[in-house]
Amino acid sequence: KLIRLVDYQQPDYLIDETHLTFELYEDYALVHAHLVMQRNPALGCDLPRLVLDGVELQLLHLAMDDQVLTAADYQVDAEQLSLQPLRPSFTLDSTVRIEPQNNTALEGLYKSGEMFCTQCEAQGFRKITYYLDRPDVMSSFTTTVIAEKQRYPILLSNGNLIEEGVEDKRHWATWQDPHKKPAYLFAVVAGDLWSVEDSFTTMNGREVTLRIFVEPENIDKCQHAMNSLKKCMRWDEEQYGREYDLDIFMIVAVNDFNMGAMENKGLNIFNSSCVLAKPETSTDAIFQRIESIVAHEYFHNWSGNRVTCRDWFQLSLKEGFTVFRDSEFSADMNSRTVKRIEDATFLRTHQFAEDAGPLAHPVRPPEYMEISNFYTWTIYEKGAEVVRMLHTLLGPERFRQGSDLYFERHDGQAVTCDDFVAAMESVSGMDLTQFKRWYSQAGTPVLRVTDEYDAERQLYHIDIAQSCPATPGQANKQPFVIPVAMGLLGAEGQALSARLQDAEQCVTQDNWVLTLNQAQQRFTFTEVSERPLPSLLRGFSAPVKLHYDYSREQLAFLLQHDSDGFNRWEAAQQLAVQVIEEVCEQLRTHAPVQVDGCLAQSFAAVLNNPHLDTALQAEIISFPSLAYLLELQEQADVQLTDKAREAVRLYLAEQLAEPLQALYNRLREQAKQTQYRPEAEQIGNRRLQAMALSYLTLLQRDDIVAATVAQFEQADNMTERLSALSCLVNSTAQSQAQAALVQFAEEFAHDPLVMDQWFSVQAASSVLGELAHVRQLMQHPSFSIKNPNKVRAVIGAFTQHNLPQFHAEDGSGYVFLAEQVAALDALNPQMSARIITPLTRWQRYTPAQQALMRAQLEQLQALPKLSKDLYEVLERTLA
Ligand code: ARG
Ligand code: ZN
Repeated sequence: KLIRLVDYQQPDYLIDETHLTFELYEDYALVHAHLVMQRNPALGCDLPRLVLDGVELQLLHLAMDDQVLTAADYQVDAEQLSLQPLRPSFTLDSTVRIEPQNNTALEGLYKSGEMFCTQCEAQGFRKITYYLDRPDVMSSFTTTVIAEKQRYPILLSNGNLIEEGVEDKRHWATWQDPHKKPAYLFAVVAGDLWSVEDSFTTMNGREVTLRIFVEPENIDKCQHAMNSLKKCMRWDEEQYGREYDLDIFMIVAVNDFNMGAMENKGLNIFNSSCVLAKPETSTDAIFQRIESIVAHEYFHNWSGNRVTCRDWFQLSLKEGFTVFRDSEFSADMNSRTVKRIEDATFLRTHQFAEDAGPLAHPVRPPEYMEISNFYTWTIYEKGAEVVRMLHTLLGPERFRQGSDLYFERHDGQAVTCDDFVAAMESVSGMDLTQFKRWYSQAGTPVLRVTDEYDAERQLYHIDIAQSCPATPGQANKQPFVIPVAMGLLGAEGQALSARLQDAEQCVTQDNWVLTLNQAQQRFTFTEVSERPLPSLLRGFSAPVKLHYDYSREQLAFLLQHDSDGFNRWEAAQQLAVQVIEEVCEQLRTHAPVQVDGCLAQSFAAVLNNPHLDTALQAEIISFPSLAYLLELQEQADVQLTDKAREAVRLYLAEQLAEPLQALYNRLREQAKQTQYRPEAEQIGNRRLQAMALSYLTLLQRDDIVAATVAQFEQADNMTERLSALSCLVNSTAQSQAQAALVQFAEEFAHDPLVMDQWFSVQAASSVLGELAHVRQLMQHPSFSIKNPNKVRAVIGAFTQHNLPQFHAEDGSGYVFLAEQVAALDALNPQMSARIITPLTRWQRYTPAQQALMRAQLEQLQALPKLSKDLYEVLERTLA
């Protein structure tokens, strides 16, 4: 059954107060709900039937206004309970029995190891009690949790602790949340947890207690998350004027969690992989991910909780805005350019692929079957790009005014994407009607740019044509509003100044933002003293594909001279793509392979350039991923592209062996002398060091293998250890790789997060990660298909990062994934519907592969029992 945006209606009834009591036992839990309700006064004074959501609940007791109801008074089915209110205001009492210990879907109330926890977004609350489980029903919550004291000494819920007590072997705690909220922000936790405590003084001088709860063995892994929390709380005050609004802010780490984390009011629940870290067990990448996710969930307190979504079609209202906020925070804490490169790379690899496939949908989807399927790259990452474009179009000051107005106007409300844009219109006076096509049209726009220089009149014309491919249900697209940031370079590499005719927005004399709003447009610059080389879409100013016919010399020139760091990197990418594509063509036609030397020369210049920081150097010499290269091809040819890519990498390693070796030695020595800290400059050094080592590994030299083993054994931090391990695993030195893997597994057998890394470094390796080995990994005692992190570490790593093996020509990779999807679907539908993603891209591959992939999809579709989640994905994929 499809839910449609156009069918939205206000709720018939409201819930002013929600009083919950949880009685937790080992084999079941009782949930008592006391709801204070009223007819929605906006809708009239008739009394329609009250329809409550409820799934997998065993109803034990129901009373309205203290009158016990019997089966004749209400109707129940698998998803709803309906009854007839007799008065506009009434109370409803219910008791249900649930079985958290058997809840493998990890939605609603469930057990993760020994602890009880919840995940309610989007529609998990209905698995806890009968309720109006929709975000526009906002209620004040009082929650009592009762459990055995010894097993569950810590009892938590949203808001402030107002009472607690002990009764025999059991104890209880009552929490009250002073802020009204929708049910999806509700949380409870019960467990034997230790905590780290700190405090934060807000801009108005209020003291906030900060507490991170973890299982006892992880108590030494909380400091980084705590530091990140304090930083992002300050940043949100300084950059957005947002202050925290409760006396306590809590984070709980749980091992079994479908997503990264959840912004429950005052009680964020995190996948332990997104909160726990220490240098000996966690890589730089993990430290950075924690910083950004802690910030993301914290920022939701305003962009999501204080102002929430009217309905789930508006999901990007909170997610797009919050991702934009967290990425700006990360940019401020680290290297802005590198953060932008990472985000653009991610978007272009994953979101562009989504936008080009059968599951493409707009930032505001018009319909869904299962909302869990819409926590996508499009809603999050493209949604963030849409907010970023507003920021670019309005400029930082007016954007901030718009954000202030949005929060002021809608505090305490459940609103829509239109309300967000309307606030931006109010402060800027701009008409953003056309801009809003970004919310309603799916697909990635394509820009084709040509130019013309008139030396005599010193005129320079840029012509841009925009188009957007058809997506499911949307054959024809209207032109988007697209900000194209750009500059002009002169023959010496200097920034050319010029005047942009009819400019709506001229940021500076030599850095412009062209605002595209038609299918075809010409922009003219006057007073252009020489033929310029354009630097286009600086900072990746819009989520589009831009084509301009650069020669390799021009790309090398931009890489050397562009003042925009992002576009220097982009020039290197384009250069690499051209060179690899050329080798692909040679392989395809069985011509001798000849790698153009331009890339090696450019990279050598980058490595020798003392003005570039190491983080940017690392990004520039880091090669386009296989997944990204495939995404650029009309029809993806995995094996051939992999071969070509490896050939070019080997050529670069040979050409640059000396400078890479010198660089590696210098950085490794430096690392030995330095106390590890997860900070930008060091992170850049380690990334460049790892990059150098991975090229050198291709040379199959004994001295390099020895150096890698030494780094693996001697490094005092996981970043260097894992990069060494990865090099060994992906090398021909398999006996050293095996020894290192055994040693690593012995050392970290007790730490599931480190074992995740051990699993994925193998599953992602095209050398070691043959299907048989991956199947073996799933027999390892540390593996469990019920744990989402393990599923991602093995199955996810194999199908997304080990493309040559996953796409093995006999189709065995597809059979494997379909098997796992089927097994998972019976346990955890959110996971099955997500892990299947690589198969949903079947139309991208060669006809033979297409047939093999489709066969597996059809087989899944024929299964006797499919979750709603998986059913929808298959339906849309095969439509
Ligand atoms: N709101 C959470 C976040 O963005 C994600 C929750 C996802 N829940 C789900 N059922 N898919 O951090
Ligand atoms: Zn979020």
